[in-house]
Amino acid sequence: TDSTVRALRGRVLTLKGNPFLDEPGACLVHHEDGLVVMQGGRVTAFGAYATTCGALPEGVVPVEYPDSLIVPGLIDTHVHYPQIQMIGAFGEELLAWLTRYTFPAEFAFADRVHAEETARLFLRAVLACGTTTAAVYCTVHPHSAEAFFAESERFNTRMVAGKVMMDRNAPAALLDTAERGYRESRDLAARWHGRGRQLYAVTPRFAPSCSDAQLDAAGALLAERPDLYLQTHLCESEAEVAWVRELFPARSSYLDVYAQAGLVRPRAVFGHAIHMDEADFCTCHRAGAALAHCPSSNLFLGSGLFRLFDALDPRRPVRVGLGTDVGAGTSLSLVRTLGEAYKVAALRGDKLDAVRALWLATAGGAEALHLEDRIGRIAVGYEADLCVLDTAATPLMAHRARYCTDIEELLFVVMTLGHERVKATWVAGEPVYEAGRAESFRYA
Ligand code: GUN
Ligand code: ZN
Repeated sequence: TDSTVRALRGRVLTLKGNPFLDEPGACLVHHEDGLVVMQGGRVTAFGAYATTCGALPEGVVPVEYPDSLIVPGLIDTHVHYPQIQMIGAFGEELLAWLTRYTFPAEFAFADRVHAEETARLFLRAVLACGTTTAAVYCTVHPHSAEAFFAESERFNTRMVAGKVMMDRNAPAALLDTAERGYRESRDLAARWHGRGRQLYAVTPRFAPSCSDAQLDAAGALLAERPDLYLQTHLCESEAEVAWVRELFPARSSYLDVYAQAGLVRPRAVFGHAIHMDEADFCTCHRAGAALAHCPSSNLFLGSGLFRLFDALDPRRPVRVGLGTDVGAGTSLSLVRTLGEAYKVAALRGDKLDAVRALWLATAGGAEALHLEDRIGRIAVGYEADLCVLDTAATPLMAHRARYCTDIEELLFVVMTLGHERVKATWVAGEPVYEAGRAESFRYA
């Protein structure tokens, strides 16, 4: 029940402060033998076991995780649940990939049962990767969002999701209209936004698939309900940016297409944002809008290299989270995705250290979603979403870990070797996933 006290004991890592703005080492909170006590969905005590065990009520035995790193639940700021059936599709760049693989996969969600089965599989797959919050694209069909929220509510996960809006440049079976997209989104938001831990995102797919009227309708809905989220794609590939310039000749940039419709605002999350200039970064900084860095997707489609350290320039830092962008991304694991983020940074001549990397997948994602007062950290009062990383997931990793001399090296190696599945995942103070020979979920 809600009043049950539960506790975890093990090596705990979390962050205070932003390591892109302050000295990374000073932002790290590390307890070699730490204790997290939870009740009513929140953390009620946290610290070194020796000094915190007094907070354990009589008879509460902490669950112990050896060979592990207990970190905040991971946050995926950009992912498409309908695309798990075509992840790893061969040989196309963004626009051809959408036509050849993505749209056909999304047709299948006209069937409600298919949507429900996929939502069920997707949520379990995400939890097995240690992800406890995600910003999720559904399809154009309203029941695709219904199916996803219903599944998320079952696990009590804090999820952001929305039905895709698109009224042009896609197969007719996947199109809504400006008016219908507005109405369906408004009704879904009325039903789900703020119900338990669920949050609604107005989701125009991207400028090429939305008329001016549709973008304006999205802006109108957000003006009526400023508490909603907005998610879309921005500046992903060069061919896409060129197409947007053709479709919207009067706009000064791709971002300006969204700005003119009133979509550049707090709780807006723009996926990719690779081909951005300084003025675009300044606009996002001022607006409180966020960017979702999706390195595995960007490498897989050959879209380009995100300018992570420019986006987070301390003179005008933009909110940045990490996204898997499955099905263009090749893994639902944010741990693996961080390994790819390191390589994207390396190709740009930058070094993404383990502390900044962990921040991106936790507190950075929370800031991107304007939820930094609730999730993304382990701290008293925060929602008790936890991810238990396995530092001995494979014999190779166990061996390598023995040669690590400090915690940052260990964390970096875990990201680089990138095991898909975590050891355990806790949501709102309850264990929801345990790895093992027969992996088990809280709700069969
Ligand atoms: N741009 C518009 N739609 C999509 C999508 O589904 N995936 C990616 N990666 N980019 C997009
Ligand atoms: Zn995407």
